[in-house]
Amino acid sequence: MDTLVERGFIDADDAASLQQTSGVLPVDVADKMVENVVSVFGLPLAVAPNFLVNGRDYVVPMVIEEPSVVAGVSGAARLMRHGGGFVARADDPILIGQVQLVDVADPDKTIELLRVAEEKLLQDANNLQPNLLMRGGGARSIEFLKYKLAGERWTVMVHIAVDTRDAMGANLVNTICEGIAPGIEALSGHKAGLCILSNLADKSLVTSTVTLPLDSLRMKGFSAEAVRDGIVMANELALVDRYRATTHNKGIMNGIDAVAIATGNDWRAIEAAAHAYACRDGSYRALTAWTATASGDLCGELTMPLKVGIVGGSLKTNPGARAGLKIAAAGSASELAMLMASVGLAQNFAALRALVSDGIQKGHMRLHARSVASLAGAPKDIFDKVVRGLIDSGDVKEWKAAELIAAIQQEEQSAGD
Ligand code: MEV
Repeated sequence: MDTLVERGFIDADDAASLQQTSGVLPVDVADKMVENVVSVFGLPLAVAPNFLVNGRDYVVPMVIEEPSVVAGVSGAARLMRHGGGFVARADDPILIGQVQLVDVADPDKTIELLRVAEEKLLQDANNLQPNLLMRGGGARSIEFLKYKLAGERWTVMVHIAVDTRDAMGANLVNTICEGIAPGIEALSGHKAGLCILSNLADKSLVTSTVTLPLDSLRMKGFSAEAVRDGIVMANELALVDRYRATTHNKGIMNGIDAVAIATGNDWRAIEAAAHAYACRDGSYRALTAWTATASGDLCGELTMPLKVGIVGGSLKTNPGARAGLKIAAAGSASELAMLMASVGLAQNFAALRALVSDGIQKGHMRLHARSVASLAGAPKDIFDKVVRGLIDSGDVKEWKAAELIAAIQQEEQSAGD
């Protein structure tokens, strides 16, 4: 906390509020957010330092219950900053809205009719969101898709691409879809069906890349080449084996979801988009690419849809999300998305590096031992001793912790006597 304040990532008031947990969502506010509220629910808020993205330093807020994730990503980011950090880029923050037309007799003719009226439809959409226009966003383009449903019934999907700037944009786009539907019905002579955004935000792609100098990959007991080639092979496997790809992408989402939750973003939407994008060619694949460069270094790249917001939604109501956003200090939704993609890439690297060297359990158990010691009620003054004992014993279990606590306490008592 002191370091965060010293380096200007948060001010002293924020630090005090975080330490006293007064930034946690009050139950009466929670009660206005969703239905049937009985209480609020806690999760750890951690920070991952060392992130250098497009030449800027970040401390990343992460809300997650799984041990190792924050340590893994912070360690990876530290290695990566020595190689110059991440280079990230983002498309404009476009969210697609869908208006369905049902029972369309001649879909091609209907699409032609609507294509001629594209400008008017965009105008109608923008008239519905004057504030968005003022913020530099607005409806940008229209596309059409057609599908044959059961019983030879054609349906036409009108896609309206809306630049929602710093808002995630779900409400903005849903309002536009419902608002332009009557005009589309009138123009086409067909009835509108579903009017809703699409969470497949594939016009809002974000890419983060990183290069790790070969030397930085050396590990105790493993050559740098072995680690690099292992990671390249692990990625290749996740491009062809969907069972491995799912776990591989889950590791990426460990990082991305944690930042999404810490900054008040809709992580279900992000998850849905990520996995749909991961199987865009019909097979579910890794979202990353890891390759060896001509000079032998390791190069990583992650591309995925990331439609996030830094204004609106629960950000207004949830003080925890406001604190997370303050720590992340992203000046725009696109900047936050680029940071999140970099976190996903670092997380993937950390997991693959562990998998191709010591295995995942060694580091995981070291951190898991802390929560086991705490569960067993290890007192503060002997806590570290109990954790070390658990790791050395190889039995990271609650019964073992209880045994160690009793033994250490007895030892200390005898020493006192
Ligand atoms: C665990 O939460 C995530 C990993 O399984 C990811 C992976 O296997 O790449 C370690």
